[in-house]
Amino acid sequence: MTQVESKPTTNDTPFVPIEKIVALCKRRGFVYPNSEIYGGVSGIYDFGPLGVELRNNIRRYWWWSMVQLHDNIVGIEGAIITHPRVWEASGHVENFVDRLVDCKNCKRRFRIDHLPEENVIQNKCPECGGELMEPRTFNLLMETYLGVVEGERMQTYLRGEACQNIYLDFDNVVKSSRVQIPFGICQIGKAFRNEVTPGNFLFRQREFEQWDLQFFVHPSEMLQWFDYWKEKRFEWYMGLINHKDRLHFREHGPDELAHYAKQAFDIEYKTILGWQEWEGIHWRQDWDLSRHSEYSGQDLSYTDQNTKERYIPWIVETSGGVDRTFLNLLLDAYEEEPDPTGKEPRTVLRLHPALAPVKVAVLPLQKNKEELVTTAKNIHKKLQRLMVSQYDDVANIGRRYRRQDEIGTPYCVTIDFQTLEDRTVTVRERDHMTQVRVNIDELPAYLLERVTWQ
Ligand code: GAP
Repeated sequence: MTQVESKPTTNDTPFVPIEKIVALCKRRGFVYPNSEIYGGVSGIYDFGPLGVELRNNIRRYWWWSMVQLHDNIVGIEGAIITHPRVWEASGHVENFVDRLVDCKNCKRRFRIDHLPEENVIQNKCPECGGELMEPRTFNLLMETYLGVVEGERMQTYLRGEACQNIYLDFDNVVKSSRVQIPFGICQIGKAFRNEVTPGNFLFRQREFEQWDLQFFVHPSEMLQWFDYWKEKRFEWYMGLINHKDRLHFREHGPDELAHYAKQAFDIEYKTILGWQEWEGIHWRQDWDLSRHSEYSGQDLSYTDQNTKERYIPWIVETSGGVDRTFLNLLLDAYEEEPDPTGKEPRTVLRLHPALAPVKVAVLPLQKNKEELVTTAKNIHKKLQRLMVSQYDDVANIGRRYRRQDEIGTPYCVTIDFQTLEDRTVTVRERDHMTQVRVNIDELPAYLLERVTWQ
């Protein structure tokens, strides 16, 4: 897929406030607070008509790049609920915890690992300077129950990380799909965490979606594949963003490594929240398959068909968030541009055309001219079979362009009086607002070439 053009940023380029994105998402139907009529639930959101299109495009593009383009990668889709022993084996029952402190004075709650060091040392609230209470430990797994009879119900968990299904299905995939090491299994799926400090819109939620690649390798090739996937994933994100200088790696220090990781790098993106994790590249080694072998009593080792060597494969994990991608791409794409004609600024979402929720808007120049309307509706009906197209005849053409710019529609097609004479339409491009005339018969190919990934 073609890369998004770099948009040079300087230290003065302002970061977009999250509130602007929240407002746009609500106003234009990208994201709504969940259960809003009951007052909402912190850290849980619903996706509206445009949100679901954008989200599906983001997911499909990841799947296409990671599964479809690789002969040695396959996909699965596992269930959200698993046997409870899975979470003992994975280490989450014991280790998936956050340590929290409450301020005695202002009652605010903080994760200790998010507090500045001096506040931890001085036991002082970063907001009001009040004294902090004794730290408490909370497990993030969300409990649920299977069965109806009290006393016989089995307690289990909604999955705290989506990837566990991949280890559970490892042996089935090997036996059913002729994959040989090195190979990968991908999955996109929901994960649930009782985050104690959910916030910043989609950034830290309690129900969210992850995409994972678990790449299984011979231990002697671990370093090579770890470096390979680290670079590959970095390039993947780089291709989608305008602000290329806002992406970097950060290595985890020994005290912040997750219980399963021997080494970890975060791909971080800089927003108004500072540098924050977008995706983690984790050296999981043999932790998962060894633990599940031990806890289940099933041997999850692998036999090399050529050498007959039997071993527990090591794992390179690349694990990112669909929702965090959604949010970061909106923050990266959002821009308010001064209008050269001196009217209100133009709000534009510079999303990659292949990810934009609506690919094309078809606009008759005037809605009271029947021939223009009929021609426009016919064009829209044809395009609709190939891509997400919107027909719009409400308000003047300038306003209609603005409405589309604000939701990131890469192309607007205007049907005017010249169309009736020579069968050409005006195609207006979102970022540079340039216009060209294209023959109606050539329009589908013209647009497809520009709005699909290949
Ligand atoms: N299997 C490894 C794993 O779950 P993680 O770093 O905890 O690793 C991977 O999560 C990705 O999932 C993160 O990089 C982030 O994009 C996303 N993520 C994690 N917690 C999240 C939350 N509470 N809300 C939204 N996205 C989250």
